[in-house]
Amino acid sequence: MARTDVTRLDAFAGNRALRSYWHPVAAAAGLAGPLAVTLLGQPLVLWRDDTGAVVAAPDRCPHREAPLSAGHVDDGCLVCPYHGWTFGAGGTCVDVPSSAAGVPVPPMAHLSTVHVQERYGLVWVALDDPVAAIPTIPQDDDPAFRRINNPVEVWRTCGLRMVDNFLDISHFPYVHTGTFGIEQETTVPRIELGDLDSDFFGYAYEVDARNDVGAATTGIDDAVVHRKMSTGFSLPFTVRSTIWYETGLEHILLLCTTPVDDLTSLFTFVVWRNDDFSVSAEEVIAFDRAIGAEDRAMLERVPGVLPLSSTGVVSVQSDKPSVEWRRRIAAKLA
Ligand code: FES
Ligand SMILES: [Fe+2]
Repeated sequence: MARTDVTRLDAFAGNRALRSYWHPVAAAAGLAGPLAVTLLGQPLVLWRDDTGAVVAAPDRCPHREAPLSAGHVDDGCLVCPYHGWTFGAGGTCVDVPSSAAGVPVPPMAHLSTVHVQERYGLVWVALDDPVAAIPTIPQDDDPAFRRINNPVEVWRTCGLRMVDNFLDISHFPYVHTGTFGIEQETTVPRIELGDLDSDFFGYAYEVDARNDVGAATTGIDDAVVHRKMSTGFSLPFTVRSTIWYETGLEHILLLCTTPVDDLTSLFTFVVWRNDDFSVSAEEVIAFDRAIGAEDRAMLERVPGVLPLSSTGVVSVQSDKPSVEWRRRIAAKLA
């Protein structure tokens, strides 16, 4: 079979390789269901069964293809809105109301569920058997850190552009002028890439950041704060940025990109901090949300799928992390 040259494709979300990775699709808190989500072009329904476990299945009733997400959950069972077929734990069809008592449920009536697990306050789904685990954030088990979740947002942009953006620091003085960007800091020091730990590959750097808007986040009064940072990726689409302030405060951002389709993506981020918990979670993440809104406003103006080839777009030294990530993701998609 001829190999596909993914670097020339104008589509990527339908690539089967992506089905074998975990992707965050929803916030776990408040999920009772049914909730409709779309992952890699596949419409799914999520709900919680009677044990509290999340079930994820194609959003299509096996009977006459009604969207199950338009139904309701009764005692942990998902009830189809069309003829009331009812699905319990594991997607098992437990009731066909039109059938007389004792008539067996057809074997094909059960839902073909997909892999699902909850981690870091998010529901993660893998459409095929996963080939890699969800990246580990050790601070999630550290009582010195609190975790703060942000609602899932829908961005009208290519997911590849989002990851490219999250790995890039050269846009800070242009895109983030309303939050932490400093106009005079445009030169990016030489970037050395390497393993940040067993799950993330990236680089460390230092940056001065404007601090007037973000003072609640940093807990520092100075107009400018010095940050030591690292940023790296875990394939396919997870980016982690860690900020160390001189006060000892550590602020970890997990930036999650989930392709709905080629040009629509879910964005959510999770924060871990070793602060004294005196500032409200809402106040802490208001600054990060404002930063995300600046990236979103830029990316939603950029049309199409980001080329993965080295010649499709022009890159310079400051794009090294993204170039390496695009090389690796292209290899996975090939
Ligand atoms: S389409 Fe779902 S029960 Fe008929
Ligand atoms: Fe940004």
